[in-house]
Amino acid sequence: MERLQKILAQAGVASRRKCEELILSGAVEVNGEQVTAMGTKVNPNVDVITVNGRPIRSEKKIYVMLHKPKGVITSAKDPQGRKVVSDFLPGIKERVYPVGRLDYDTEGLLLLTNDGEFANLLTHPSHHVPKTYYATVKGVPHGSLLEKLQRGIELEDGMTAPASVEYQDVKMENNESTIAITIHEGRNRQVRRMFEAIGHKVIRLKRVRFGEVILEGLPRGKFRHLTESEIKKLVNEASKTHKVHN
Ligand code: URA
Repeated sequence: MERLQKILAQAGVASRRKCEELILSGAVEVNGEQVTAMGTKVNPNVDVITVNGRPIRSEKKIYVMLHKPKGVITSAKDPQGRKVVSDFLPGIKERVYPVGRLDYDTEGLLLLTNDGEFANLLTHPSHHVPKTYYATVKGVPHGSLLEKLQRGIELEDGMTAPASVEYQDVKMENNESTIAITIHEGRNRQVRRMFEAIGHKVIRLKRVRFGEVILEGLPRGKFRHLTESEIKKLVNEASKTHKVHN
């Protein structure tokens, strides 16, 4: 819900002050009813707003991907004053929301949009858009442990769905290894908890793929708009509601 004059201004009707004048003059209707009270709250996704009988243009839908650095919060504001993802979207005037979330310490591909339907579709638990992470862990997990992750492992909130897992890099001298893991769910701290469950703590975590969209080529802290084709592929992928087989 937003204040009517703000929505009118965001839709490009006029400046905020002019929009207030329009409201006071009786030119604005919400769901067929004249509204002259300043500060009336409306929902632009549901309510029909007209000015002099003409519906206002709804906000342009935008879809971006950000290479989120670690140490950044996936939310619009942080009461503790830490960096938030919107700090990395210069020039984006639309109010965009993250599609799912990445932990404060996780870096990588984060989608943001002002299209609520799109965000719901991609985050709904019955949809299975694959997400790939590079998890750098302490030590080198034995193949049999990775197979456990692949089959599904018991976490405190239940069994995980089958995942794809493969070694990406092994650094014997640092006693660490990087595993590429693709999951189809989005539970809280899921990848970290999966590796913890096999006794290998995650040291670094980076999401490199969301459905068909890949992070490669986008520098850390930068964003770009998704292409039409990427948006279509994500919608198609999320619309397949059947269970995934590995
Ligand atoms: N899994 C995690 O553990 N953390 C993330 O940020 C994303 C997936």
